[in-house]
Amino acid sequence: MNATTNRKLLDWVNEVVSMCRPDHVVWCDGSKTEYDRMTNALVKSGTFIPLNEKIRPNSFYCRSDPADVARVEEFTFICSEHEEDAGPTNNWADPKGMKEKMRGLYDGCMQGRTMYVVPYSMGAVGSPIAKIGVEVTDSAYVVVNMHIMARVGTAVLHALGNDSDFVRGIHSVGAPLTDVKMQDVAWPCNAANKYITHFPETREIWSYGSGYGGNALLGKKCHALRIASVQARDEGWMAEHMLILKLTSPEGTVKYVAAAFPSACGKTNLAMLEPTVPGWKVETIGDDIAWMKFGEDGRLYAINPEAGFFGVAPGTSMASNPNAMRTLHANSIFTNCAITPQGDIWWEDIDATEPTELYDWLRRRWTPNSIRKASHPNARFTAPAAQCPVIAPEWEDPNGVPIDAFLFGGRRATTIPLVTEARDWNHGTFLGAVMSSEMTAAAAGTVGTLRRDPMAMLPFCGYHMGDYLAHWINIGARSDADKLPRIFYVNWFRKDDHGKWLWPGFGENSRVLKWVVERCEGKADAVETPFGLAATKESLDLDGLDLDDEDLDILLQADQAGLLAEIADMRAYFARFGDKMPPELIAELDGLEARLQS
Ligand code: GTP
Ligand code: SPV
Ligand code: MN
Repeated sequence: MNATTNRKLLDWVNEVVSMCRPDHVVWCDGSKTEYDRMTNALVKSGTFIPLNEKIRPNSFYCRSDPADVARVEEFTFICSEHEEDAGPTNNWADPKGMKEKMRGLYDGCMQGRTMYVVPYSMGAVGSPIAKIGVEVTDSAYVVVNMHIMARVGTAVLHALGNDSDFVRGIHSVGAPLTDVKMQDVAWPCNAANKYITHFPETREIWSYGSGYGGNALLGKKCHALRIASVQARDEGWMAEHMLILKLTSPEGTVKYVAAAFPSACGKTNLAMLEPTVPGWKVETIGDDIAWMKFGEDGRLYAINPEAGFFGVAPGTSMASNPNAMRTLHANSIFTNCAITPQGDIWWEDIDATEPTELYDWLRRRWTPNSIRKASHPNARFTAPAAQCPVIAPEWEDPNGVPIDAFLFGGRRATTIPLVTEARDWNHGTFLGAVMSSEMTAAAAGTVGTLRRDPMAMLPFCGYHMGDYLAHWINIGARSDADKLPRIFYVNWFRKDDHGKWLWPGFGENSRVLKWVVERCEGKADAVETPFGLAATKESLDLDGLDLDDEDLDILLQADQAGLLAEIADMRAYFARFGDKMPPELIAELDGLEARLQS
């Protein structure tokens, strides 16, 4: 019996079957039995190593092919009908040509494998903000990760009903087993032929060659950001690369904050931080993506479309992010970290005691004397959000939570101060538009290179970045200014001349959150600077922090000469967007330049 009577879905699945020619087709029901059956099969096939039941129950360790460890922006394409709609920051390919090429690659690509049909809902099933997609994949690793990261299975098919539409995602690792004698490998992929392609007009995602994270778990970056950003523009809402947190003051006032930081720049950490400021409480709604719609009251309501965390492992510890450590105590998947002889996971900076012996992410013996790192810098954990001890009770509220403040931020060793408040929406949009960050290992590329990354959406915007910035301006123009979130720009990553962090970060970031809330409530002071409204030493709660006074001066101020030196680059960046660049933001840039020069 078919799992669905939705004709569009059945027809599409049949089409994919005749193109990819899998040996078997399995419709995923999303049950625990299915999860257990598939993790068992992954253990049998050598992809997964079960971790020690006594230390980390029902958890699995996995090592990818060394050539498949991160997103591949170079091979990620937005195939809109018109090149103009992809814009200068995306790779564009003609949809017809790209589909032809992909059909060639997909031809028979699932031979010897099982094709899984994974219906998923981004957002709680039935939420008015949620959207349904279906991913077909020949990777069992993808299926079990999707089980954690999204709501999957029969309930989603029921919500889809008989004739609703859905986002169509095709995923193949691109490694057919064409001969019965062919031995499968632990991590099948096609490293030399990776294509992550998006067809925004038809809401389709075709992905080939990679089994990793954002390349393969199509509900996440491909659907919830690249395709959804296009829908959001068309329908007047927002799909953003933002964490969502709930902040409760000692008096019991609740505020919701959403923050856009580029990949591996601190969203997961901020989303579940343990405040060092007494009496304040942070609870998590989401750690990577926010979908936001206007409510009838004119405020912006956000949901976390995901159901799990696909978090950066290295650096995560009881000292830096205890709530993440507690979240991944069980029922989790670990990819590309190291494994101990006792059968537990390990990564750099996980805690103070270094094991005497490990097996590293490249399957080699590793000791503390080894020069290489034991885990890949983009090693990840996949863990159910519901296991987070500080998950907010309303995290699955179908109507979302009203956002009070947006934070933008990136990794900047110099120039950008700890916190700056925007004067208004357009100025805030400008700060987001000129945001820049030193690149991380989350994407294949040059780690440490500074690049502009508007709203942390550079790799994830499914359309022209100039149109995207105009969408932000339009949202401001048609909304009630005092109902919109206030906008702030933060930087936890300022360094001194010796490369040491000037700000302790992590739980101490609660001091900045407190200032943000107090600014929203008109309780904290700020000073006008050319860049924006800066926190003063007195207005920021620094109680109990042992910071050098000179360091603090550097931290709290924008480096004006440094900013002035960047104006030309900002201008050139904006110029790339041609006549799609909103004039409001060029006016903001002119204003900043004039203020810096006066
Ligand atoms: P994606 O999942 O790639 O989108 O990343 P993310 O934005 O969620 O980043 P995450 O919170 O996982 O942090 C990435 C790295 O930055 C980790 O190694 C953290 O330890 C480190 N980090 C996070 N917050 C801070 C901070 O406040 N200060 C410093 N110095 N490092 C931080
Ligand atoms: C990111 O790179 O921003 C991530 C990880 O959150 S991935 O799912 O690979 O996109
Ligand atoms: Mn991310």
